[in-house]
Amino acid sequence: MLDDLAALAANDPSGMLDAVLGLAAQVRDGYREGLGAVDLPAGDGVTAVAVCGMGGSGVSGDIVRALYRDRLTLPVTVAKGPVLPAFCGKDTLVLLSSYSGNTAETLACFEQATHWGCRVVAVTSGGELARRAAEQGVPTVPVPTGFQPRAAVGHLTFGVLGALEAMGVVPTLEEEVDHVATVLERVRNRIGPEVPESENRAKRLARAIGDRFPVLWGADGVGSVAAARWRTELNENAKVPAFSAALPELDHNEVVGWAAGTGERFVLLTLRHTGEHADVAERFPPSVEVALSSGMLHEEVRADGDSPLAALMSLVMLGGAVSVYLAAARGVDPTPIDAITRIKKALEG
Ligand code: PA5
Repeated sequence: MLDDLAALAANDPSGMLDAVLGLAAQVRDGYREGLGAVDLPAGDGVTAVAVCGMGGSGVSGDIVRALYRDRLTLPVTVAKGPVLPAFCGKDTLVLLSSYSGNTAETLACFEQATHWGCRVVAVTSGGELARRAAEQGVPTVPVPTGFQPRAAVGHLTFGVLGALEAMGVVPTLEEEVDHVATVLERVRNRIGPEVPESENRAKRLARAIGDRFPVLWGADGVGSVAAARWRTELNENAKVPAFSAALPELDHNEVVGWAAGTGERFVLLTLRHTGEHADVAERFPPSVEVALSSGMLHEEVRADGDSPLAALMSLVMLGGAVSVYLAAARGVDPTPIDAITRIKKALEG
């Protein structure tokens, strides 16, 4: 049914696939929104950057950290919980990323950041975060409503990047953003629903996963962020358990767990990109060998694009499409996230 357009649409009434495949436009729009945000704090003298956010909104922080790890002398930290690191102070730039604006952990970080006199920016489509930001004169990068948080990854990530550039914390990204969007448009044309499975990498990968549990491995940095993003997209869209890890770290522990026979219900997807550290790249073949000997199937997935950001975003789009096609193959609607909603409601009390 992956080539049956009517069946795909019927399985995805809220249009998750369209949102996933619309990433190029989001990248351009998000960057503009970030660049154009008004009354941003001064970037002069900033000594560290902290991005706070959970789930689909927190991934923007992971992407920014991976991207700048070897380009920026400032530390970039990602807070995925209700606690802001204690080093944050008046010279720390704290970006609060919450699509809904109502996430308890992100609101807790907002309170700490404003209380500690940090330079604060909110990135949100509304909710309590937008309300508190307006009340306290904290600038906001506006994100459009109407998306699931995970499907707004382009707006959130490039909103953060645009704001960082506008404050002078990172050099201009204009050309890079253009390259990313061009690469994503190309990828979209190769993996859209109208492209038959025989030529469609995303559909073929969904088919390869089938009834097995996906295990995602990527190289430390860009690859590991991509692997984690695939895991969460497979969790939330396809409603399957999935696992992710990074090389070289997994060579120091996880590989031992893949003893003969343990991999029979799993499929390994290695997410590869040009620019991996040579010492890390050479670890893939022997590590995959271990996985195969455990009974796992294996598929290698190569990123598109010449820059780390383009490679990462191409993998983000591909993983999103794979997860929606897998949802279709399994007959589940990719959009609802009942367990997340239930837990949030239970804690509202
Ligand atoms: O995918 C999701 O919906 C979740 O992971 C949310 O992103 C997460 O719960 C945080 O919510 P928000 O993105 O609105 O801050």
